[in-house]
Parts: sequence; C-alpha cells; structure tokens
Amino acid sequence: MRGVLGCGVGVFSVGGYSRLLEPRWVEINTTGIKITGLPKRFEGMTIAQVSDIHHSKYVPREFVRRCVLKVNALSPDIIVLTGDYIYRSGEFLIPVAEELSELQAKEGVFAVLGNHDEKDQTIQVLSKAGIRVLVNEHVTLYRKSDYLFIAGVDDLLRGRVDLRRTLNGTDEKPKLLLAHNPDVIEMAKDADVDFVMAGHTHGGQVSFPFYGPPAVPTRSGVRYAAGLFYEGNTTMYVNKGIGVSWFPVRFLVRPEITLFTLQGVRNRRYDGSEELTSENCSGGPVSDVIHT
Ligand SMILES: [Fe+2]
Repeated sequence: MRGVLGCGVGVFSVGGYSRLLEPRWVEINTTGIKITGLPKRFEGMTIAQVSDIHHSKYVPREFVRRCVLKVNALSPDIIVLTGDYIYRSGEFLIPVAEELSELQAKEGVFAVLGNHDEKDQTIQVLSKAGIRVLVNEHVTLYRKSDYLFIAGVDDLLRGRVDLRRTLNGTDEKPKLLLAHNPDVIEMAKDADVDFVMAGHTHGGQVSFPFYGPPAVPTRSGVRYAAGLFYEGNTTMYVNKGIGVSWFPVRFLVRPEITLFTLQGVRNRRYDGSEELTSENCSGGPVSDVIHT
C-alpha cells in the first residue's frame, strides 16, 4: 500500500512539475559562433534567438511578455524569431505580435514563418509590429562599409523552401540563415551557408535521462533535436523554443532564449570543436550561462 501511495505521489509530482513548473522555467543559453571571414566591424555582434512561442491558452500572454523582457535585458544587436507564433487558433496572433512589438534590438528584428503560421496574415501582423519577415529572401546588414547577409526561408512543411532564390545576389560575405525546420541543414550546407538558426523541434518537449527525447517531428528524427551541430562548413543551432504544442508539458527540456556572439575566424573554415568556447559543442543544449 505504501509503495502504491509513494508511486502515486511520484507521478503526481512529475506531472505537476512538467505541466506547471518547467514550461515557465526559461533558461538563457549563450555561445560564441565562429564565422569564417567575419568582417571586423561585426566581431562581437550579438544575436538573440526566440523560437516556437506558440501563444495559446497554454502559453499565456504574460509569459510571452516576461520572455520579451528577458530578451531586451540581453541588449542584443539583432533579434531573430524562428517561427510558430501561435498554436491552433488565429485569435492569438495579434496579441503575440503586440508583445513582440516591444522587442528592442539595435539593428533590427528578423523573423521566419513556422508550420503553424498562416503566411499572409502572419507577415502582415508581424510587419506591423516592426518585425522584418523573411520568406525566401535576404537582407544586407551594414556596419559602415562592412556587411553580411541575413536570410530567411519559407517553412519546409507548410511552404516552399527556395534557397537559391533566398541567396540570390549574395557574395562571399558571411551568410546567416533563419529556418524554422532544422532539416534545412541539408540544403544549407550545400549552399555554404555559414550559420543556420532553427527551431521547430521544441527539443522533443520531453526528454529522459541517458536516453534523450523519444521523438522529434523532423525527417531526421532526433538527430537535430536541440543545440549546436556542424555539417560541412555550416554550423546550425536548434533552439528548444519558448512554448508548447500538442501536449502542454515540458520535462527536462526547459524553454530557451539563446544569445549568440559572432567571432571571426580568418582564412580557414571551421574545423570542429576546438574552436568553440562553449562547453557543449556537439549537439545538446549549450549552457554557458543560465539565468532563471
Ligand atoms: Fe513549434
């Protein structure tokens, strides 16, 4: 009887933690990203990434507001949003955009669409909030005569990724790519993109010790569940997201805001982990600094 009772209390505790506590327990992960040939004036540029907000009855507006304040407290040079702003109902789009309009970045806020985002409406509402939505296109970011490219592709599941069009007109200068779905890495590495920032996976939302997430909704399975990855000359970071979808829990996959700092590497391509300053550099969450 005592065993059954103990088991029941354990299940209740894990259930309460994963339903009520962890989904609101945001971690801020910071890592340096080495970029070959990074123009001098972009050395040290900071990028805050927020993904998969999924504003809904399970991800309330106050929580989104709290995340926006956390991002602003990082004073990033740019902010990138990698898709999935709402969950299920379009009624949440305008409220989430109103909260996102408070994001403060010195050189702009850029976004791509996710598989939960209705294209025209989302572009219109986010644009009104001062956010530049990139759908198979790029912008050039200048610091005096130095520049690099920030590109964004349409969602792989809901739209059509056209990387050739996205990068058309770019030259040898560094190319940063926003993509909701990490499966885009297969195309990005062939196009010599320097750095991909993705989301979509939510890190699986549930992960088990010594095993990891049982499932992730990508073609590549759990391979790109979360964290940093290297494919060819391309680095990719997969953000675990802020919100939840399908089931309103998180277990050992805390919501995440990421802050990247660009670091230049001269005359050679990235050759692996010794170049990294972060502690965990071959997949899995990076957590140099964690604020709660
Ligand atoms: Fe999502």
